[in-house]
Amino acid sequence: MEFKTIIEPFRIHSVEPLVMTTPEQRREALKAAGNNLFSLRAVDVLIDLLTDSGTGAMSRDQWAAMQQGDESYAGSPSWFRFLESVQDLFPFEHVIPTHQGRAAERILFTAIGGEGKIVPNNTHFDTTRANVEYTRASAVDLVIAEGRDSQSMHPFKGNMDLEALDALLTEHGPEVVPVVFVTITNNSGGGQPVSLENLRGVRAICDRHGIPFFLDACRFAENAWFIKQREPGQSDRDVRDIVREMASLADGMTMSAKKDPLGNIGGWLALNDDALAEQCRNLLILTEGFPTYGGLAGRDLDALAQGLREAVQHDYLSYRIRSTAYLGEALANAGIPVVQPTGGHAVYIDAAALLPHISPLEYPGQALAIALYEAGGIRSVEIGSVMFGLQPDGTEVPAALELVRLAIPRRTYTQSHIDYVIEVCESVAQRADELSGYRITSTKRQMRHFTATFEPV
Ligand code: F0G
Repeated sequence: MEFKTIIEPFRIHSVEPLVMTTPEQRREALKAAGNNLFSLRAVDVLIDLLTDSGTGAMSRDQWAAMQQGDESYAGSPSWFRFLESVQDLFPFEHVIPTHQGRAAERILFTAIGGEGKIVPNNTHFDTTRANVEYTRASAVDLVIAEGRDSQSMHPFKGNMDLEALDALLTEHGPEVVPVVFVTITNNSGGGQPVSLENLRGVRAICDRHGIPFFLDACRFAENAWFIKQREPGQSDRDVRDIVREMASLADGMTMSAKKDPLGNIGGWLALNDDALAEQCRNLLILTEGFPTYGGLAGRDLDALAQGLREAVQHDYLSYRIRSTAYLGEALANAGIPVVQPTGGHAVYIDAAALLPHISPLEYPGQALAIALYEAGGIRSVEIGSVMFGLQPDGTEVPAALELVRLAIPRRTYTQSHIDYVIEVCESVAQRADELSGYRITSTKRQMRHFTATFEPV
């Protein structure tokens, strides 16, 4: 007999206390933070859904693996265990360890970006876009139209628009486009997966135009699980095989190991091109470290070697994807507009739909995120015009979507924590028409969503 309750496929081994706060204390904390949730002290947050990045719980076996960490500067056994684990899933010729994903991005785009270049992606994550633009190249998002429609039930809303990609590459050849990126899953578009068929299509187009194809593979295991669930002919495959096929279609990858590899820190750049790898290793040595540790301690490399093995286990992925959907379904059932279908690592509330009385440049997502914190101590993140609205020329253009992301740290919160989150979201949604918009009172040009301060309009 199959039971419908999806239980956490682990029991708790050590615990961290949560600190309860009152609404009054939270209002004070918001004031001190200039209404920017990144500026809160984490102890003032009850349920922290700011990000699924580096915030997951490591397993007993990962902690045990850390004890084997060997801190030799060069050629540590930890490095070789890490390398074997990475190449088991992603058999690229060169693996270059970094302290996190954006370091891999910075190294790669320093090598291949530059003025006049164009980098297409289904949707650039903000650090990826920033690293492309920092080299004066432009970052272009070419996700399929369904990926911009929060209610479309397309099973692979992260897919690249192949026609648009082909048109771009026909107009601009390899001198202008140094690489084509696909982000799996598509974080900024709602944690939506990309199908194998679409990846094969990107591969074919890149081959035709002679342009390398890279994956931003932070959430590769979740993407592979969706492929197994949703793509015709894939249901009997082992997730590891699907991951290897995804990797085999690409020429390289960037990785934030703070996501699916179940680490609290780490990342890598992997690729097949020898000359480019050498250039990247030289940049690595300049700022990250020697090529057998990158920006990481030996113990971190061992934690990741083990984390990668756990990330592709079916019981884990089934629980992971099902428990995220549990939150998404409960909010939808309560009439709260969420991006459909629920993504892998997060639930995205459509703040523009929930707060139609707040115009995009009065930041409905920020207003909702602040309200969720004030009401219940939940920290989420705005993914809308605060994050994407500011253009390189200093003007503001509303983002395609005004979302609030509730990202679920891996193996960290239980179902009762999530039931509490559901209750808080419902209570805020019930008085949505009372919420007001915000204006920015101070900001910096780069990465303003980390630093801006806000006041109610
Ligand atoms: N690419 C994607 C798709 C990401 O989601 C992230 C990070 C990065 C690259 C950069 O990796 O943080 O290790 O430097 N996303 C986090 C998030 C921060 O909250 O979604 P990093």
